[in-house]
Amino acid sequence: MSSNERAPIGVIGVGWVGLVTAACFAELGHEVIARDVVEEKVESLRRGEVTIHEPGLVDLIARNSDRLHFTTDMAELLNRARLLFVCVDTPPSYSGDADLSRVRSVMADIKDDGDHVLVMKSTVPPGTGETIRRDLPGLAYVSCPEFLKEGSAVEDFMHPDRVVIGASDRDQAAAREVADLYRPLGGELVMTDTSSSEMIKLASNAYLSTRISFINEIANVCEEVGADVTEVARGMGLDQRIGPQFLRPGIGFGGSCFPKDVNALKLLAGNSGYHFQLLNAVIEVNELQKRRVVSKLVRHLDSLVGKRVALLGLAFKPDTDDMREASSLVLSARLRGEGAEVVAYDPVARENARTLLPGVEVMVTAEQALEGADAVVLVTEWPEFRDLDWAGAAASMRRPLIIDGRNFLDADAMRQAGFTYEGIGRPGVGTERE
Ligand code: UDX
Repeated sequence: MSSNERAPIGVIGVGWVGLVTAACFAELGHEVIARDVVEEKVESLRRGEVTIHEPGLVDLIARNSDRLHFTTDMAELLNRARLLFVCVDTPPSYSGDADLSRVRSVMADIKDDGDHVLVMKSTVPPGTGETIRRDLPGLAYVSCPEFLKEGSAVEDFMHPDRVVIGASDRDQAAAREVADLYRPLGGELVMTDTSSSEMIKLASNAYLSTRISFINEIANVCEEVGADVTEVARGMGLDQRIGPQFLRPGIGFGGSCFPKDVNALKLLAGNSGYHFQLLNAVIEVNELQKRRVVSKLVRHLDSLVGKRVALLGLAFKPDTDDMREASSLVLSARLRGEGAEVVAYDPVARENARTLLPGVEVMVTAEQALEGADAVVLVTEWPEFRDLDWAGAAASMRRPLIIDGRNFLDADAMRQAGFTYEGIGRPGVGTERE
């Protein structure tokens, strides 16, 4: 049977995960119906307008427009599609636990008619799949967590390290059907039970966050003892048991997943009576790491009252306009709390920043942000920051001081450009050496 003769794939929730999933399945030759409750979003997607900043996505959607259908109509989706990929968001609730109200409202719409396979892409607490299966026994349920990174989501979808598929014994046929969809992509298939699959997602994000908080603490100790954390990370990463990834120190991790998932796992453990001590430290280290820059500035400038501090990069990482849990949010508020005047620049997150950073002047160019500043903090490592005319910037600043929050720039070149340079965990680097 050719792919065109198969029933279309249904995608419920056309946010970032849903849109990438829909577009990539269409690229693989499948007919896809994607449904969202927000009418304006569906209308603009039908016109081919994509508001999400994700490399390659606009082209993918345009190239596959004949196989991609957007609708608000759940009945249409349920009539035509059998495999339903649930991609609604599960944001933190006031308690910090995942808010499953959108998942529940999808469940309320789906008939328990034995015809559909529900594939859960949304991040849900372990145990959720079992509960849904009990509530909707006629539905086949497959957990298939997503591991896409913002900024490389299309690439990650097409070349996964692994695809995790969890299902109960009863739903093994549905699990194999989902596995067949992902098989052409070549990643290792991890076939497991539902709760383990759900746990793999949370544990992976919690582990990666732990690595970041770990290397951030090592960086802080390096500052005390005169070691260079980038050398330390390089030396550690060559041990195959450790590996080089996710050992970049900085001013804290952010984004829509890590902070939320670490906290959700901590709370989930707590709810079931287990005190997950390590994750408390991971969270606390991350919070403190965002603030350490303030003490660095104070050390150089004495008081921050009336000082003009420029933030370069506001998104939680490069190649996205996403500012959820970005270090820039905490940092700008702390700086303003110290009496500083904060100006900022980001290549794509400008509009988001204007709403999210009250009292911060968001400039149209990096040069404007730097002009007249007493210090600049590189918060997000956008590649274009490497090519700035740093000597010109130094000359335009009131005081050419830079705290490189991502160890991104060449310290010696910055010093030659006239800057006092300080990175994270690299006390001797960028200073005048004897
Ligand atoms: C993450 C997971 O990587 C992905 O598998 C999951 O599906 C969603 O969450 P994402 O949030 O897009 O993806 O960002 P990622 O590239 O993983 O970075 C997260 C944060 O960690 C960023 O703020 C980044 O700056 C920070 N980071 C990452 C570090 O501080 N140091 C590192 O070594 C790596």
